[in-house]
Amino acid sequence: IHNVIFKSSDYASIIIAQEIAGLIKEKQAQQESCVLGLATGSSPIKVYEELVRMHKEEGLSFANVVTFNLDEYFPMEKGNVQSYHYFMHEHLFNHVDILPENIHIPDGTIPQEQIHQYCIDYELKINSFGGLDFQLLGIGRTGHIGFNEPGSHYNSVTRSITLDHLTRSDAAPAFFGIENVPKKAITMGIGTIKKAKRIVIMAWGHKKAEVVKETIEGMVSSEVPASYLQRHENTTFVLDKEAAEELT
Ligand code: F6R
Repeated sequence: IHNVIFKSSDYASIIIAQEIAGLIKEKQAQQESCVLGLATGSSPIKVYEELVRMHKEEGLSFANVVTFNLDEYFPMEKGNVQSYHYFMHEHLFNHVDILPENIHIPDGTIPQEQIHQYCIDYELKINSFGGLDFQLLGIGRTGHIGFNEPGSHYNSVTRSITLDHLTRSDAAPAFFGIENVPKKAITMGIGTIKKAKRIVIMAWGHKKAEVVKETIEGMVSSEVPASYLQRHENTTFVLDKEAAEELT
């Protein structure tokens, strides 16, 4: 992993948005679709804000963009304000010219017995677009990327998982109590993520410093799934000063 440290997460987010915009335009020039893997949570908010600004003020078009989100809670209604479906529309999709049929977010409403096939189809869908050109990631304090919690296999694919207690407790404020946080989620696998041609992972703030150190300087281990990215050829870890403070 190559890491870059910025003074502020706001500035770092703008640089990430510029890379994404550059890729979108490059693909546009070649009349190709640009396939983006997207994350939710607090980390990418400013990146999406900047992309929306570029759309509104600079005419950046998302007409050739196809997106696949990493994950969704399960069970979860799409209209629920805590859903990742809601988050993505609120922060990005409602404000740009992406075609609705090009948006893919794991569905938290499908019947339990259909999840397995649904996940197989999600993988096939990504492959049908030629795979992910760019994957944006945050990192959880358990070391998860997507919702690949400790123990996740290097070759894991899209599937249903059980959330770690720490992940649920970090999500508790948004749900007004840990008892309201779903126990499960659907997530792309490590194997799905690592096939992306380019990966940018972000971490902001002191709370992430410990897991950032383990991810970058620790051994590759299923105990810190993000450490698997050490084996990806084209990953950049973008950090602010606080998240980088434990790096040697
Ligand atoms: C969200 C996701 C998660 C988050 C991670 C960090 O789609 O896949 O891995 O990126 O939990 O969340 P924040 O950014 O809220 O600290």
